[in-house]
Amino acid sequence: MNVQNIEQYRVGAEPFYRVTAGEDALYEAAYARRMPVMLKGPTGCGKSRFVEYMAWKLGRPLITVACNEDMTASDLVGRYLLDKDGTVWQDGPLTTAARIGAICYLDEVVEARQDTTVVIHPLTDHRRQLPLDKKGELLEAHPDFQLVISYNPGYQSLMKDLKQSTKQRFAALDFDYPEAELEAEIVARETGVDSETAGKLVQVAHRTRNLKGHGLDEGISTRLLVYAGQMIAEGVEPVAACQMTLVTPLTDDPDMRQTLQAAVETFFV
Ligand SMILES: Nc1ncnc2c1ncn2[C@@H]1O[C@H](COP(=O)(O)OP(=O)(O)OP(=O)(O)O)[C@@H](O)[C@H]1O
Ligand SMILES: [Mg+2]
Repeated sequence: MNVQNIEQYRVGAEPFYRVTAGEDALYEAAYARRMPVMLKGPTGCGKSRFVEYMAWKLGRPLITVACNEDMTASDLVGRYLLDKDGTVWQDGPLTTAARIGAICYLDEVVEARQDTTVVIHPLTDHRRQLPLDKKGELLEAHPDFQLVISYNPGYQSLMKDLKQSTKQRFAALDFDYPEAELEAEIVARETGVDSETAGKLVQVAHRTRNLKGHGLDEGISTRLLVYAGQMIAEGVEPVAACQMTLVTPLTDDPDMRQTLQAAVETFFV
C-alpha cells in the first residue's frame, strides 16, 4: 500500500461536529484501546459526522462502507480480479483499513447478511486478524486499525438483527437528536439561517418527533432540518421550503401530511 493510497482516506479539513454529551472523550478512550465501537441512533442524528470528526481528531484515515443485503464477504475482504497478466488480488475496504491502520466505518451493518457480518469477528476480538481465505493470507491488523459500526435501533425485524456474538464485540454509544438549543445552533451553523429561523425549524421537528409511533415511523431528523435551512438560505419561502424538505419526504399519508403542514404553518405563517 503506497502513501498516496493512504492519503486518499485522510479527512482533510476539520469536520464541523458539535459534541453533545462528552461522546468525543468516550470515543477517544475506546480508541486508545482499539475497542470496536457501535454507534446507535436514528437516521440523520450525526453518527457519520461524528466518525468523520473523530477520525480527523485522531489523525486516522477513514474508510466508510455502506452495507446492504446483497453485500458478500468478498465485497468487504477482497477478491481476485482478471487483468491482462492473469488474476490479481484486490483488497476490499475492510482489508485495506486493517492494512493501513484506518478507522473502518461499516454504515448500517444490520443490512448485511449474517454470513457477511461474521468476517469481522476475528478482527474484533483479541486476535485482531483477518483471514483472507481465498488468498491464503492471515492478515494481522495494523496497530492503529479500529472498527466502527452504525445501527439504527428499532428498524430491524427479528430476522434482521445482529447476532449477540456480533453485538457483544462492541462498546456502544447512544446517539439522538441534540437538545433544542444545540440543534438550532447546528442548523444555523450548517446552513447560514439566523438563529430564530433555526429555532423554529427545531420546534417543527419536535412536534413530529412526538408523533413517532403514532402515524410516523420516525420524526424529522437533524439532516432534514439542515435541508430546510439550506432551502431557506437559498431564498425559498419558508413554508415551501419546509414542505419540500420536512413534510413530503417524511410520509405519503394525506392526513399526516396535513398535520405536518399545520405544524409548519404554526411557526412560519
Ligand atoms: N452534533 C452535530 N454536529 C454537527 N452537525 C450535526 C450534528 N448532528 C447532526 N448534524 C447534522 O446532521 C446531518 C446528518 O448527520 P449524519 O449524516 O451524521 O447522520 P447519521 O446519524 O449518520 O444518519 P444515518 O443513520 O441516516 O446515516 C449532518 O450532515 C450535519 O449537518
Ligand atoms: Mg450515516
